[in-house]
Amino acid sequence: MIQFELVSADRRLFESALEFAQKQVRSLMEIHPGYYPLYTQNGKWKHEGQAWTHWCDGFLPGMMWIFHRYLPDDHPEKKFWFQSAVRYTEPLEPRKLDREVHDLGFIFLSSYYRWYRLTKEPKLKDVLIQAGRTLALRYQEKGQYLSSFIAANSLFIDIMMNVGIIFYAAHETKDKRLREIALRHCYTTRRVLVRGDGSTAHEGIFDLETGEFLKQTTHQGYRGDSCWSRGLTWALYGFGASYEWSLDPRLLETAEACADYYITHAPSDGVPPWDFKAPPEQQKQLDTSAAAIAAAGFLRLCRLLADPVKGHFYWSTGIRILQALCEKHLAQDDPSWEGILKGGVYHIHKGLGVNESVMWGEYFFVEALELALRRI
Ligand code: GLY
Repeated sequence: MIQFELVSADRRLFESALEFAQKQVRSLMEIHPGYYPLYTQNGKWKHEGQAWTHWCDGFLPGMMWIFHRYLPDDHPEKKFWFQSAVRYTEPLEPRKLDREVHDLGFIFLSSYYRWYRLTKEPKLKDVLIQAGRTLALRYQEKGQYLSSFIAANSLFIDIMMNVGIIFYAAHETKDKRLREIALRHCYTTRRVLVRGDGSTAHEGIFDLETGEFLKQTTHQGYRGDSCWSRGLTWALYGFGASYEWSLDPRLLETAEACADYYITHAPSDGVPPWDFKAPPEQQKQLDTSAAAIAAAGFLRLCRLLADPVKGHFYWSTGIRILQALCEKHLAQDDPSWEGILKGGVYHIHKGLGVNESVMWGEYFFVEALELALRRI
């Protein structure tokens, strides 16, 4: 296994960012106890803006689990983060039966899975298995994919971040059918949403009668044949994670193709525009949440590669993205801002969470910081 070392200036930069993240999450809990936000409006978490879909509730407890894991055993706040994480994770349990969303991986892998890995309590495993079984009910036999919340004929690139909960349930129950569903979903996504140059489409549309793939489209990207940057990072991270679950080398190859597209198309600091193919005047709008997901994805992928040179290149890329996020996009200098990272984008066409803090950006930023700081 390759060893990766941080220079001390980066260590200090990332430790300070993680302290700021803890401060912001603590103050969110104090200002709005029990509230699970999606995105800020003018830097404030609580507002009347619509959700579009309910997929983010795992990210707040997920950050608490990461803070708990990161702090040394004798730290005075370790117990606080454990108790807070449990308090914010338990209310998610009924979502294990939620058939309205395709996001059960986002919700449960960030929360219950972290809790289970820590305590190994069987009742937590049961929740995770049920969530995996529920997500598998979205499987469309003819097209061989898990359908998005939009409609049965719709496949989203985002689902690559969720299919892991089905791999997990398959592994725990030894249910071959569940594993088959998860693998088929990955292969179909790879075939119809990942292009030859490693760029990705957001959505694929199928003929439900025949299972025929019809076209690439988008909801949150610039257009059907563009490359929505967050979608690309969901693929980069999601195919890498699916390789970890399945050990199918084709999925690692796909993660690398997406990672290489990211490296060759993002600006030099690694923080991309909201869509890589948006017209030049729209490229000023970055999406820091895509950068945070990419950083976490690179810091995980670097440990999976057989080639140490490429592994080191991915590690350095993840570190470079984190440096840019810490130096240019932290909300630290704006005391009125409630989030951690500025400059995220949720849904540009609907005007939701544009140039704001977004919960998944916060979570993957915190995850990437912890991956970089971890000493093993
Ligand atoms: N619904 C997932 C996303 O906005 O990226």
